[in-house]
Amino acid sequence: VSQLPENYTCRPLQASDYESGFLDVLRVLTTVGDISEDKFLEQFDWMQKRGDYYILVICDGDKKVVGTGALMVERKFIHTLGSVGHIEDIAVAKDQQGKKLGLRIIQALDYVAEKVGCYKCILDCSEANEGFYVKCGFKRAGLQMAHYY
Ligand code: ACO
Repeated sequence: VSQLPENYTCRPLQASDYESGFLDVLRVLTTVGDISEDKFLEQFDWMQKRGDYYILVICDGDKKVVGTGALMVERKFIHTLGSVGHIEDIAVAKDQQGKKLGLRIIQALDYVAEKVGCYKCILDCSEANEGFYVKCGFKRAGLQMAHYY
């Protein structure tokens, strides 16, 4: 298991992370938009109540969020009421990439998925990121289809 740099921490997302740079880290990944603190908290509470969202952050020594990743656990009827983990929204701040933070996030989410009883974890990524996920122990499987609205 990969170690974090000294003074870095990995923990679940918390309500106060609106102030800690969480949304800016997500902006490395894609468009986030303007989100007020109230709307952020409303979404955070909704996810907390569901209980099947596991969002992790990595903070640097100054307690600033520098990496994040999410696991959503989907319950099924197949595979004897099995659960599938969906890994989503993995992002590491530009100036913090290459320090194994991404790997650490995936390892942590994988650990949670296995602990809560998932029989597999799946994710979608671009060809450019395939090598990263291979290093994290994933392999190419299937084909993604999308219908945008
Ligand atoms: N292609 C091939 N190998 C890679 C890549 C890549 N794009 N990125 C990292 N690696 C390798 C590293 O060299 C390292 O290899 P090593 O163990 O031999 O040294 C290993 O993968 C682990 O790399 P980390 O240092 O943990 O990677 P990092 O912390 O930089 O995070 C990430 C990788 C998350 C892809 C980061 O570059 C990032 O945030 N990119 C922009 C956002 C993004 O594309 N996120 C993923 C979207 S897909 C999804 O969310 C499901």
